[in-house]
Amino acid sequence: MTKRYKVWVSRPLFPEALARLEQHVELHAEAIERVHSPEQLRERLAGVDAAIIGLSDRVDAATLAGNHRLRVIANLAVGYNNLDIDALTRAGVLACNTPDVLNETTADYAWALLLAAARRVGAAERWLRAGQWTGAMRFDDWLGVDLHGKTLGILGMGRIGQAVARRAAGFDMRVLYHNRTRLPEVVERQCAACWVDKAALLRESDHLVLVLPYTPQNHHVIGAAELAQMKRGSVLVNIARGGLVDEAALAASLAAGHLAAAGLDVYEDEPVVHPALLALEQVVLSPHLGSASADTRRNMAQLATDNVLAGLGVGPDAGRPPTPINPQVLAARGVLGKA
Ligand code: DGY
Repeated sequence: MTKRYKVWVSRPLFPEALARLEQHVELHAEAIERVHSPEQLRERLAGVDAAIIGLSDRVDAATLAGNHRLRVIANLAVGYNNLDIDALTRAGVLACNTPDVLNETTADYAWALLLAAARRVGAAERWLRAGQWTGAMRFDDWLGVDLHGKTLGILGMGRIGQAVARRAAGFDMRVLYHNRTRLPEVVERQCAACWVDKAALLRESDHLVLVLPYTPQNHHVIGAAELAQMKRGSVLVNIARGGLVDEAALAASLAAGHLAAAGLDVYEDEPVVHPALLALEQVVLSPHLGSASADTRRNMAQLATDNVLAGLGVGPDAGRPPTPINPQVLAARGVLGKA
């Protein structure tokens, strides 16, 4: 049977998600992971009705120029700073992301970085593996920073930030947060978190986690001035986007001993990591894997698949994609019919 729609998947995906797509559409799925150049992306998107793409695929007005076919872009991430939403909306392309299914897994990972950075897990393991644990260890070697009983600061209290906050109860921590908009009291109570202004958050946190979306307005929201306002001996964790932190300023603060440690999962220029950070033992570095548990990545793939099929108007939820970013595109299209 000839299928009405063509869908491109820009990176290898779980077979069950591909099989579900294949029931409804003509599928073109990449078998190997690669970064597509703007020209490759433009060319691939020109020949399809929908695509599932990753964070390294940047779609803007130039990518879409002259493309009159594309109807849906499903991003395999909750963050979508790789997408120019205004350009997609102007072009009538529905953009979707994968919120919620990754909240708990990403919050778990924030705690993995908090604990690893504060208790020097990475450096200690490297030391042990290098065969340096050869005799008695000094009582005051490898001293870290406690988490229990301290103040946890969260910058960006969306759903992932709230999940990070809820976990702090197990560590008996005071939780402060800053958001432009204060959360309803009932949510604050569930998270046992208090709103403070940004200056107080920086001044009072022993451990600060960044969980806010990246926009041009919050580029380097943590720069040299903000780092200087943070407590001496505090710990910074970034699980959101690299561009939120001025990496050179962070490296300088760590090297000077102002911050005790940092845990980073994201970088300004991924996959490049600032050499000054690579050189510092007190930084725990991971390759953007906050949502990378087997269950969650599968759920993200299924949600992206649901978005593509429903956005194209096929399958059981035709016309009702679960997580659109620019739903006004659907409204402008009117009701989608089943294929
Ligand atoms: C997201 O979903 O935005 C994460 O950063 C991807 O792992």
